[in-house]
Amino acid sequence: MSRRGGGSASVVALPDGPDEAERFDDPDWLAVLEAFQGAGSVLPDAYAPLFGPLLETRSDLTVVGQLGQSLDGRIATVTGHSKYINGPDCLAHLHRLRAVCDAVVVGVGTAICDRPRLTVRLVAGRNPARVVIDPRGRLEDWESLNTEDGARCLLLTGADAPGAAPDGVEVHRLGMSGGNVDPHAIRAFLSAQGFRRVLLEGGAQTISRFIDARALDRLHLLISPVLLGSGPAGLQLPAIATVDEAIRPPTVTHCLGSELLVDCDLSGI
Ligand SMILES: NC(=O)c1ccc[n+]([C@@H]2O[C@H](COP(=O)([O-])OP(=O)(O)OC[C@H]3O[C@@H](n4cnc5c(N)ncnc54)[C@H](OP(=O)(O)O)[C@@H]3O)[C@@H](O)[C@H]2O)c1
Repeated sequence: MSRRGGGSASVVALPDGPDEAERFDDPDWLAVLEAFQGAGSVLPDAYAPLFGPLLETRSDLTVVGQLGQSLDGRIATVTGHSKYINGPDCLAHLHRLRAVCDAVVVGVGTAICDRPRLTVRLVAGRNPARVVIDPRGRLEDWESLNTEDGARCLLLTGADAPGAAPDGVEVHRLGMSGGNVDPHAIRAFLSAQGFRRVLLEGGAQTISRFIDARALDRLHLLISPVLLGSGPAGLQLPAIATVDEAIRPPTVTHCLGSELLVDCDLSGI
């Protein structure tokens, strides 16, 4: 696939979102949930620019990534601390993404560092299935993920890994090559599980592997007006020699309070 050519870019000013106290019974958001459950087809203006592209997808599986980063492109401090780079509007957006997806996927680095719950708590919506990519079976503490809320919890691990997981966690084994599970094999697995929309929530390594394999459909890059100075960078892709080799996806930039959300359409890269 060519990396040349220019992506198109535009900026959309979203209407102010609901206050924190109103998020659970925001009628516009409830209409979005209905639309994603197949009960409605028109998205309210407040949400159409951001969620329309996810609703309209035609392929059997859509994978959307999210990455919250500072102005200087860091996703965590040098100690791995990342809660919370982004403010309340971006966090609410993350929970909305979870609510419209069937499954949310993280790499084992994030599962160990953040002990995330991956549930929908800041807006109305049901919890997606939780999936951890842990090819070597490094995750020992499943407490935050393996909760009894009725949502599935899955471990994707390598053929030779210990595969030790507590009751309630489904263990699935995928082939590896050079320590990498082909993101397209992960997509095929997720699709075979019946998932139609998947949120790849991080971290950077996991999302980078998907982008490098051309296996990510969209990326919501959330940029917070904060400078961390040092710490792990966001995306890490193979080096290129000249700027004209850069990936230039079509993008739409949205203002979420004082933060920016850059919606990158990676489907054609
Ligand atoms: N700001 C944000 O939005 C955000 C979001 C999430 C996480 N974070 C932060 O990011 C840091 C963790 O991110 P990270 O990039 O270090 O780790 P990560 O992406 O969460 O996990 C990476 C690890 O997952 C496994 N993995 C993922 N995809 C794989 C594939 N296709 N094939 C084989 N193995 C695969 C590998 O495990 P092995 O190493 O065992 O081979 C890999 O090293 C933490 O500090 C966390 O707080 C920030």
